[in-house]
Parts: sequence; C-alpha cells; structure tokens
Amino acid sequence: MGYRLLDTDKTYLVTGAAGFIGFYLSRKLLEKDCRVIGIDNMNDYYDVDLKYARLGELELFDKFTFARGDISDKFLVMKVFKEYKPRIVVNLAAQAGVRYSMENPDIYIRNNIMGFFNILEGCRHNPVDHLVYASSSSVYGSGKKVPFEESDFVDSPLSLYAASKRSNELMAYAYSHLYGIPSTGLRFFTVYGPMGRPDMVYFRFADEYFAGEPVRIFNNGGFEYDLYRDFTYIDDTVEGILRLLNNPPGSEEYSRIFNIGSGRPEKLMVFVDNLERALSSALGKKVVFRKIFEPMKPEDVPVTYASTDMLQKAVGFKPSTTIEEGLQKFADWYVKYNKIV
Ligand code: NAD
Ligand code: UGA
Repeated sequence: MGYRLLDTDKTYLVTGAAGFIGFYLSRKLLEKDCRVIGIDNMNDYYDVDLKYARLGELELFDKFTFARGDISDKFLVMKVFKEYKPRIVVNLAAQAGVRYSMENPDIYIRNNIMGFFNILEGCRHNPVDHLVYASSSSVYGSGKKVPFEESDFVDSPLSLYAASKRSNELMAYAYSHLYGIPSTGLRFFTVYGPMGRPDMVYFRFADEYFAGEPVRIFNNGGFEYDLYRDFTYIDDTVEGILRLLNNPPGSEEYSRIFNIGSGRPEKLMVFVDNLERALSSALGKKVVFRKIFEPMKPEDVPVTYASTDMLQKAVGFKPSTTIEEGLQKFADWYVKYNKIV
C-alpha cells in the first residue's frame, strides 16, 4: 500500500467544520469512529441555515464536539488546543471566495492570516503529529504552464485571497522549519457538490434561476477567450484529504504541498451547460438560464489545471468523478433541499 491508513484513535481538530469541505471531512472522520473537535464562527458570508444544517448532521455523532468561536481569537484557539490535545489539525476555516476579496479585504487578513497564525501557535505550544491546512489553486495566478505542478513558481497572486493562501504556505514552512511541526498544505481546485457553497458559480446560478433572475457569466461566454476550471467533486477532495491525514512529511522535509484537483479542466461554458442539463433532469423540465455576459474580472485566474501526479504517488489516489455525475448529484440535492419538487 505504501501509505498509512486513517488512525481512528487520534483526536482530530477541524476548523471550519460547519463549512462545505469541513463538514464532509468531519462527517467522514466520525463515520470512521474518530473523535472530532470542530471549530466554526458560523459567520453569515453565506446562508447560515446551511451551516446549521451541516452542523446538525455532525451533532448526531457522540464523538463530535463543537466549539463555536473564531480562530482569529488566540485565547480561544489556545484553550481548544489545551483542552482537547488534538494530534491531527486540519485548518479549513478561512474567508473563501476570490471576488469577495476585492470589496472586503480586511476579513481576509483577519481570518486567513491572523487566524492561521493562531493555529500555527497552537501547534507550536501543543505538539501535533500533523497540521494539514487549506491553500488554493488560485496561488498559481495566471500561470501558463499546464498542468500546474506543486513545484511551479507561485509568487504572482492575482487577488488578496490568493496572496493570503500563498502566505499560509510560507508561514507553515517557517513554523515547520523552526518548531518541527509536520505540515501539509492542500491546494484545492474549485470544489463543488451537494450542500456546497452558495457563493460559488454552480450554486449561485441555481439560486438565480429559481429566483427568476439572469445569471452573469464573467468570461463573455467564451466568445473572446475560454476560461477553464479544474472543477473537483467534494467526495474526491475529501478522499484526498483523508488519505493524507496520517501521512505527514518526514523529518527531512517537514513541510509539503499537494494539489487536490481532478486534473480534467473544463470550459466554464461547458460546465454551465452541464448544470442546466442536470437541473433539467432533476426537475423533469427544461432549464435554460437567462445569461448576461460580462468581461473577465482582473482577480480571476484564466485557467486552473491540477497535476495529480504528486498526490497519486503519495497515496495512490486520483479524483475520478465527472462533472456530469457530480453536477447531477448537486442538482438532485438542490431540488430536494429547497423542496422544489
Ligand atoms: P466555507 O466558507 O464553506 O467553509 C469555511 C468555514 O469556516 C465556514 O463555515 C466559516 O463559517 C468558517 N470560518 C471562516 N472564518 C472563520 C474564523 N475566523 N473562525 C472560525 N471559523 C471561520 O468554505 P469551503 O469551500 O469549505 O473552504 C474550506 C477551505 O478550503 C477554505 O480555507 C477555502 O479558502 C479553501 N478552498 C476552498 C475551495 C473550494 O472550491 N471550496 C477551493 C480552494 C480552497
Ligand atoms: C473557487 C473558490 O470560490 C475559492 O474559494 C477557491 O480558492 C478557488 O475555487 C480555488 O480553486 O482555489 P473560483 O474558481 O473563482 O474559486 O470558483 P467560483 O466562484 O465557483 O467561480 C468559477 C468561475 O465562474 C470563475 O471563472 C468565475 O469568474 C465564474 N463566475 C462566478 C461567473 O461567471 N459568474 C458568477 O456569478 C460567479
């Protein structure tokens, strides 16, 4: 096998546990009978009811403990580390979203920089076996060489969000080097699925369609140039994380970075066509979005495309869900959750 399976005797701390990825990861760990401590500040960046719905599912498990709080609060973070002594820490709490960082830069510094600093401090003063943290495909900026490999140059972020994630990678490297904290950064690629994030394109377009509003497409509909995203289904993302949790880097390297992406980039317009088809099938009637075409945003990267080699070599896993399968699961969940049919 070559890699260590999940250790169910350890205590896992998951920040952002009521968030999209944090929820699925926590649920998987709990299903495998691990003890999970979840932190989330339940902020209203998007529909809080969805966060409570996710949390409600986690609270069905005896081995789940929820600490409501903010990772930018150092006192709270230290208290949680001291009290629960997690051996594996997964930092997913952050202000996500690329375009939101244009209007709301401050929150990215607080949550993503100060918050992550506190997590590093927690790991420094309460030794852990592995710190795993979310980075982002956005760190590749407008990189032209594809697929994106972990060793590529990544010091030209196009947004403050991307800069905050690249900063996390550098901060983790320094703390790993200084204090021997084994750390792994994960560059996720546009993750989607049921119970996902309402600010992301697939969920936003579904909401806009059912509200009778047009959708806004930011690459002029591909008439001038194509915009590609390496859309990655949530189950694939979580499987990649799970396999890495008990496989920290050795003392010779301490800090590592992996892409977790599907490795099959798709044109935005093809993804949108597939979403219309998936919603049509879920509803049993044809769905066609009213589309408004707008120019590309300066903070958006033109292409994302993950090399999956490093992940596959380390833990023998490569995402395999197609956008047809993944979007159908999203659409089926969406109409049920919103009681549309
Ligand atoms: P999400 O917004 O659904 O989850 C983040 C959770 O963290 C939310 O529930 C939020 O309430 C919580 N949170 C935010 N700031 C906090 C703070 N200061 N203290 C405590 N809780 C806080 O986002 P997600 O899609 O699940 O993303 C998880 C992580 O992965 C984030 O770091 C994000 O930047 C990163 N990421 C996500 C994607 C994606 O496509 N979903 C891609 C690349 C990277
Ligand atoms: C997503 C997440 O939102 C980020 O948190 C994450 O860090 C990033 O993936 C990543 O891979 O690292 P993004 O790829 O911008 O960012 O995902 P969406 O917000 O779903 O947008 C996807 C594409 O749709 C973008 O090109 C965007 O410009 C476009 N879009 C989005 C529209 O055309 N219209 C909209 O209304 C929204």
